[in-house]
Amino acid sequence: MATVKNRVAVLHGVNFDVLERRDASIYGGLSLAQLEAEISAWAHELGLEPIFFQTNSEGEFCEYLHRSPELADSVIVNAGAWTHYSRAIADALELTRLPAIEVHLSDVDAREEFRRNSVIRDLVIGRIYRKGVDGYREGLELLAEKLGVTPPAAA
Ligand code: DQA
Repeated sequence: MATVKNRVAVLHGVNFDVLERRDASIYGGLSLAQLEAEISAWAHELGLEPIFFQTNSEGEFCEYLHRSPELADSVIVNAGAWTHYSRAIADALELTRLPAIEVHLSDVDAREEFRRNSVIRDLVIGRIYRKGVDGYREGLELLAEKLGVTPPAAA
């Protein structure tokens, strides 16, 4: 029997542990726990199995990416500010060889110039920003399609 590949690792980078303290007009005012609860509910609706990781350490973020092929079949990455300059994270993401989606809560193209650059843009199958929390749902949908995962039958 073929094994279903439905695991998605959702990685949040630097400063996401204090998401509720960041500018609510940009990030929506919710906490990381609330964000992950929403993502988890959507993932299960789609038939995906999410696991979550957050760190403020760039090295730990890379190390988690190194382990990701054993833990997951796909990844969603919001690397926060690291997105704009961390070649180390880009190299570690490339190493996973997993289908990946880049998500940002805010409109990174409409803010400061430095936020327009993404060092991971060529490594992902989709980039979603400007859509707040809903961007994660869109990312999950893209991954479910890529992995060929269908929603569980309604009870
Ligand atoms: C962010 C955008 C980044 O520019 C910023 O540094 C973050 C959050 C977002 O989700 O909108 O930390 O990734």
